[in-house]
Amino acid sequence: MNNVYKIKNLEIRNCLVLAPMEAVTDIPFRLICKKMGADIVYSEFVASEALIRDSVKSYAKLRISDVERPIALQIFGGNIESMVESAKIVERFEPDFIDINYGCWVSKVVKNDAGAALLKNPQKMADMTNSIVNSIKIPVTIKTRIGWDKNSIEIEKVAKLQEEAGASAIAIHCRTREQGISGKADWSWINKVKEHVKNIPIILNGDVASPEDAKRAFDETGCDAVMIGRGAIGNPFIFRTTKQFLENGEIDWKNAIGERIDTCLEHLQLNIEYKGFKRGFTEFRKHYSGYIKGFRNAAHVRQKLVVMESVEEVRDTLLNYMEELLKFESEQNERID
Ligand SMILES: Cc1cc2nc3c(=O)[nH]c(=O)nc-3n(C[C@H](O)[C@H](O)[C@H](O)COP(=O)(O)O)c2cc1C
Repeated sequence: MNNVYKIKNLEIRNCLVLAPMEAVTDIPFRLICKKMGADIVYSEFVASEALIRDSVKSYAKLRISDVERPIALQIFGGNIESMVESAKIVERFEPDFIDINYGCWVSKVVKNDAGAALLKNPQKMADMTNSIVNSIKIPVTIKTRIGWDKNSIEIEKVAKLQEEAGASAIAIHCRTREQGISGKADWSWINKVKEHVKNIPIILNGDVASPEDAKRAFDETGCDAVMIGRGAIGNPFIFRTTKQFLENGEIDWKNAIGERIDTCLEHLQLNIEYKGFKRGFTEFRKHYSGYIKGFRNAAHVRQKLVVMESVEEVRDTLLNYMEELLKFESEQNERID
């Protein structure tokens, strides 16, 4: 049995965590995932340099709602001083903890020595964490990858250094920077890290896309928490179904269209509430396909939804679609009976 770790007052054991995702994990999406059972949610990453420049757009990303706690606000950058300054700014927004991004693989980030680029310099990475830990009062967690490329996987050393530097938890996306999001996440590194890092929780990330995946991750690796990213897009229900599955080995929910449509409409309303009609309504278009994915004629319905101009039109279309699907299902069942 693993230790029960704490970040602040939060007990970390078998937790389900919503991964930070740029342009996805905004307040409305986080609130929906929280309602569905996510134990911890993360904001998308925010650039330290932009925060220091007082960028209004970046400040907007720091807004949080008390309902979604515990929440981590995530920052990234390659310069230690700027990271310390931005952590102090972020602290004023009162997240439960601040997460440092040491995992982003995209060129525009790594070329500034930020994100996964820090994996090439584990000592600088540890110094960065330590400087931030010593400058703010709330806990500091980190999210990283197993290594830069397959020939330089040093996650055991990196994790140990981070523990010594004062990190309160380490989330590990079990791919190298070289892999980006391709190939398979190699969870076996979590077992290895757990042998070296005994005092803080290790959060497994990468390719957990179903309740079965999450159970396998806990069973096979002894991780303290599982972080879900892409698996929650269009499927925030994954947190609830995974909890059920971990508790009693059952999933008593079959992708019910009614709940999907209700949640989609609730998510749309939240988006409008937090971003205003114009932005909230238009930006939401990217979510429709996720909510109706896998159902009959979904592509056709999505095409109609993405050109609509009012909530009423969207609501009517979705409710009619639900009726159609339920009617089709009952006709099919009658035929089978
Ligand atoms: C659209 C998208 C945006 C992402 N943005 C961030 C980010 O802002 N910060 C971060 O640490 N990781 C980010 N990631 C990486 C995810 O947090 C996660 O590590 C990765 O998707 C692997 O987990 P998964 O297999 O559960 O999706 C992003 C991933 C996606 C798909």
